[in-house]
Amino acid sequence: MDVFRIEGPVRLSGSVTVNGSKNASLPIMAAAILAPGKSVLKAAPHLSDISVCGQLLRRLGCKLNRGQNRDLTIDSTVIDNPVGEYDIVRRMRASICILGPLLARCRRAKVSMPGGCAIGYRPVDIHLRGLRELGAKVNLKNGYIVADAPRGLKGKEVFLGGPFGSTVLGTANVLMAATLAKGQTTIESAACEPEIVDLANCLNTMGAKINGIGSPRLTVEGVKYLEPFQHTVIPDRIEAGTFMAAAAITKGRLQINNCRLADVMAVVDKLRSIGVTVESADSGCVVARTGPLKTAEITTQPFPGFPTDLQAQFMALLALTKGNSIIIEKIFPDRFMHVAELSRMAANLRKEGSTVIVAGVKKLIAAPVMASDLRASAALVLAALAAEGTTTVNRVYHIDRGYEKIEQRLNPVGAKITRESI
Ligand code: EPZ
Repeated sequence: MDVFRIEGPVRLSGSVTVNGSKNASLPIMAAAILAPGKSVLKAAPHLSDISVCGQLLRRLGCKLNRGQNRDLTIDSTVIDNPVGEYDIVRRMRASICILGPLLARCRRAKVSMPGGCAIGYRPVDIHLRGLRELGAKVNLKNGYIVADAPRGLKGKEVFLGGPFGSTVLGTANVLMAATLAKGQTTIESAACEPEIVDLANCLNTMGAKINGIGSPRLTVEGVKYLEPFQHTVIPDRIEAGTFMAAAAITKGRLQINNCRLADVMAVVDKLRSIGVTVESADSGCVVARTGPLKTAEITTQPFPGFPTDLQAQFMALLALTKGNSIIIEKIFPDRFMHVAELSRMAANLRKEGSTVIVAGVKKLIAAPVMASDLRASAALVLAALAAEGTTTVNRVYHIDRGYEKIEQRLNPVGAKITRESI
């Protein structure tokens, strides 16, 4: 098990480059199931989640290999075992997004229920409702989703809204299933996240007929077959936002390359409102902070609102702001595992339901802390960069799920992070 030893405070300065998006890569890897043959995903990040998804596809019968140039080739000619087994799905709940493609390609699928995770209960009821609307018979048996569509899927009007807005992977599942369904499907209350836009654009290069991309209403004309894809995945907007917060929390200045500002406008707006400068530059932006931070109110929302995946990182940032800030989590009401850990570093946080009052403190103090989920652990790294002393972050594997060799990318711009195996 690896730990990080992080010395602080440091000031980050220099340039970093954002990698390909984890959350766009995962559903696009699943889309390879739809078209027998060799698909190539370019710029796919080297992350443990991507490797787990690769293992999942291999179990289905696919062959995968990763070229020297990071290109990921997925050969889905043979799919003879349409089963997503528990031992893999429990490690990565995004595995659920093979369900729709398997139903469309094999007309049957058996996928383990994903179960919960550190950010709270993660139901898939909307996924299943959408696939039933397309004509699949879906039952739950011994912890598995067992789905059948012996006569194929049939297009229909499907509503994917839930109590917390739409569902990103639910939209991916139903969208991918609809591409090969008979007739037209309309998806109402579809997720508009850039990762879904990237998936839909990729599906259209495969021969799908999707309109309304980027809007909450997607219409899909079913086609008989799709061709394998060659696709370059979009940059990871959450990684970009994490680097922006790193520049701000260390009073530094970072040039962030391969960052699409349009994907992070809610984050840029918030940074500017608290006194951080963000200027567009070349293939990205320059983020700098010199003076004191102002307080903020952050409410997480579906895209284009403030992303829940940056809530923890911004809680770390606002912990050092003079005055009280408010963070309201509207997507995953229990997504606060980082609150106790940041408090161990002298952050002054008060949780009231799915709201946290962040009373700014003058400084954070290094402490041994425990990573719990991907984004909470990123928040602990940010806090450690600004804290006085050497922080030990345990269970670094959480970070490796979504940030490729983060210490090798931050140390060249001034961080002092050592990875140790214990
Ligand atoms: C995706 O998860 C992302 N993961 C998450 O990022 C991200 O936090 C989330 O979207 C929200 O933006 C990937 O793309 C791999 P949802 P997803 O279905 O699709 C409720 C990270 O850190 N819901 O959009 O699983 C659900 O409980 C990860 O990279 C239902 O009620 O999230 C939540 O409250 C963490 N029923 C809300 O909708 C359903 O059937 C949004 O969840 C599905 C979801």
